[in-house]
Amino acid sequence: MKQITHSFEYQIFDSSSELQPADRDLLDKAKEAINGSYAPYSHYHVGAAVRLANGMIFKGSNQENMSFPAGLCAERVAIFAAASSFPEVPVATVAISARAEQFDVSEPVPPCGMCRQAIVEYEMKFGNKIRIILGGQSGEVFVFNGMGTLLPLAFHEKGLAK
Ligand code: THU
Repeated sequence: MKQITHSFEYQIFDSSSELQPADRDLLDKAKEAINGSYAPYSHYHVGAAVRLANGMIFKGSNQENMSFPAGLCAERVAIFAAASSFPEVPVATVAISARAEQFDVSEPVPPCGMCRQAIVEYEMKFGNKIRIILGGQSGEVFVFNGMGTLLPLAFHEKGLAK
């Protein structure tokens, strides 16, 4: 038997104004994307912005459905739009933010497990780490160098690709 410890690092910025300009811009785009959210059931509006390695930016927001599981998270709307428009271009960075109707979102919003798995797929596809920027409407911003840090031991089975 052996015991393994996984640890990971991330950066915490006191506010988005401390970010490097390209990251601040992407987080602003994620906040803009919130305006497209359709969340009449949860009243929780999420926005995501994806920057590709060629500099193109794609935005997405959560789209809910009366049949709840039919809805989709903002991150997957954004990354699927980017990946289907430019299937050969690696994903460089994903920024995520949210706004709630009933409370202030003043902390970074972490992506759900399915979105982590969806994002990690593009790390595997292109063999690069995807930077993740998480911020609320205000407050601290977290920056992760790679989704692998947020999803250790992500599902992968190379045999499935054959
Ligand atoms: N949501 C996202 O858009 N991204 C996440 O990573 C977590 C949750 C959405 C789904 C649903 O529309 C609302 O937030 C409440 O769960």
